[in-house]
Amino acid sequence: MKIINFIIKSLLLFLIVSSISLGIELPQVLTIETQELGLSIPKTLYGIFFEDINHAVDGGIYAELIRNRSFEHTDKYEGWNIQILNDSGVKIYVDNKNPIHKNNSNYLKLELPSEMSEIIITNNGYGGIPLKKGEKYILSYYIKGDPNFEGTIKIGLGDKRGNLYTKEYVEKQKFLNEWKKISIEFTSNEEILDAQLVFRIKGIGSFCLDMISLFPEKTWNGMRLDLVEMLEKLKPGFIRFPGGCLVEGDSLKNAYRWKDTIGKIEERKTNRNLWGYHQSYGIGFYEYLLLCEHLKAEPVPIFNAGMSCQVRGAEYCPLDKMEEWVKDVLDFIEFANGSIDTYWGSIRASLGHPEPFNIKYVGIGNENWGDEYHIRFKLFWKAIKEKYPNMKIIFSGPPSYEGSAFRQAWNFAMEIGVDIFDEHIYSTPEWFLANSDRYTKYLREGPKVMVGEYAAHPVGRRNNLQGALAEASFMTGLEKNSDIVMMASYAPLFNRINWSQWIPDLIWFDNYRVFGTPSYYVQKLFSENRGDFVLKSSLTEEQLFLIGYRFKSLYHVCSFDNNTKEIIIKVVNPWAEDKSVKIEIKGKMNLIGEGKIIEISSKNPLDENYFDNLKIFPKEKEVKDLKNPFVYTFKAYSMTILRLKVSNF
Ligand code: AHR
Repeated sequence: MKIINFIIKSLLLFLIVSSISLGIELPQVLTIETQELGLSIPKTLYGIFFEDINHAVDGGIYAELIRNRSFEHTDKYEGWNIQILNDSGVKIYVDNKNPIHKNNSNYLKLELPSEMSEIIITNNGYGGIPLKKGEKYILSYYIKGDPNFEGTIKIGLGDKRGNLYTKEYVEKQKFLNEWKKISIEFTSNEEILDAQLVFRIKGIGSFCLDMISLFPEKTWNGMRLDLVEMLEKLKPGFIRFPGGCLVEGDSLKNAYRWKDTIGKIEERKTNRNLWGYHQSYGIGFYEYLLLCEHLKAEPVPIFNAGMSCQVRGAEYCPLDKMEEWVKDVLDFIEFANGSIDTYWGSIRASLGHPEPFNIKYVGIGNENWGDEYHIRFKLFWKAIKEKYPNMKIIFSGPPSYEGSAFRQAWNFAMEIGVDIFDEHIYSTPEWFLANSDRYTKYLREGPKVMVGEYAAHPVGRRNNLQGALAEASFMTGLEKNSDIVMMASYAPLFNRINWSQWIPDLIWFDNYRVFGTPSYYVQKLFSENRGDFVLKSSLTEEQLFLIGYRFKSLYHVCSFDNNTKEIIIKVVNPWAEDKSVKIEIKGKMNLIGEGKIIEISSKNPLDENYFDNLKIFPKEKEVKDLKNPFVYTFKAYSMTILRLKVSNF
């Protein structure tokens, strides 16, 4: 026996020494068990978090090209420029005596006392209105005024000085003393990136303007096509909307109230959000539901819990006045799911959607914590469960993902048995790498987890490959633990370059361009290559101890796609050296030999993407004649997906 042991040891030593001396690293071994399918991966696992931060909606996906179309912003003239060419006592001001609707109180009033009065009014949208050659644009506005007005109003798209590029439209009709909507189409003959909407007015009399709006003809339900396309490509399992801190408000006065956001555009309220700009609510809860339906994503609406943002000094709704906040949620469920015979169901039908949306989840609160939240949460919980026992209610975690507030929140959640706990994690790439197994330690009996906001923040909060690979490593752990983690979304979603309040973000855009960050491609690849069942797997690992953390040499998860009959292997190598791995499939499934490999990588982990300089994006190649087992080398700073066709599943 001793001799046999000696021979084996000598052989092993020989193998190790010879592989080192030959310059070949002894590969790690990844073993994948296929005898049985493991846990079923929820379709909701990878989703998107949608908040109007960084002009994600107004000035973003909402295709409205006019900023402050209804003069409701805190600075009522924001976006507008008024030039008086002939000042004969002209008065132009924002009035509110006879509005189109009480929710939309402001409008622009013009008083022109002499035939010589001449003015130019322009709006530059969000730093210039982009026009595409040959594309149609639809301008609409509301006007009312003195029927005796004499003069002309020329309207079109032009430059800052009011010179018109488009064939102008001249307002010839007699004004009425009541609001009338006018719509006009323009076609742009050129590509112009910084056009203005121009009104050139000359004449005597007075009139009022409101809801001055300009849209490209081609939109998806009023949304920018290029940005919607970026979301389509993510194939999200859910959409969490409308925020974020925005739901909470910096006081209860500007908390997000869904009823303000539906119905006729000109009758919706606007709201200053706590990110410092105004939301037109042109995209409201109904449009979010349509978007979810279009993307086949589960809607996850989040509601204010009767308290404003605690980080910004909370305002609490008194407990005896909470009914209205609770009712808001009940009414929304009826709006989304109720039959057309119900009050809110009939409103949904009147908006064009008689079929219910069948929402399954509602979230109460965002980043709330402590007793004040818990007391209020219970009120929602009781009322919703009484009326809609099957509705899954999401309980909000605090802004921290560890520490005393976090522990208190979990204790409460376990005690009352909430359905889903929403955790938010913004941390360093190192934290994400060191915590990929966070959810293996969670009790399986308690609430499910939604990681409703997360992102790695590298030095300088850059959107680079290093951050993206750290997120990818963490996501391997989410998928392996998707019996408990049922939803996860990167945050925030959008960044309007130079108009933002928060970095890093998933998708960046300007007036006419868009690009995905390295994190975007990680999200996209995980979502496209989720699989239906986790496959049990193990990797012989070298543990790495660095800067006080324990890391893995590679991060991986394996799953099975029941549709395409493929084993999916996702491996992240966040380190500076290539790593060779012997991959061995055990159990009943046999490799056919065909498959494909998708990879994102770079020699420089600090690489970032930009509009005209995409450095990090997936590259795909077909493979043939793969034999079990085989050795694959995972490049330094890479994420790789192997999709391998199998027989005998
Ligand atoms: O994602 C940006 C912000 O981060 C969210 O609004 C808030 O919930 C979190 O603190």
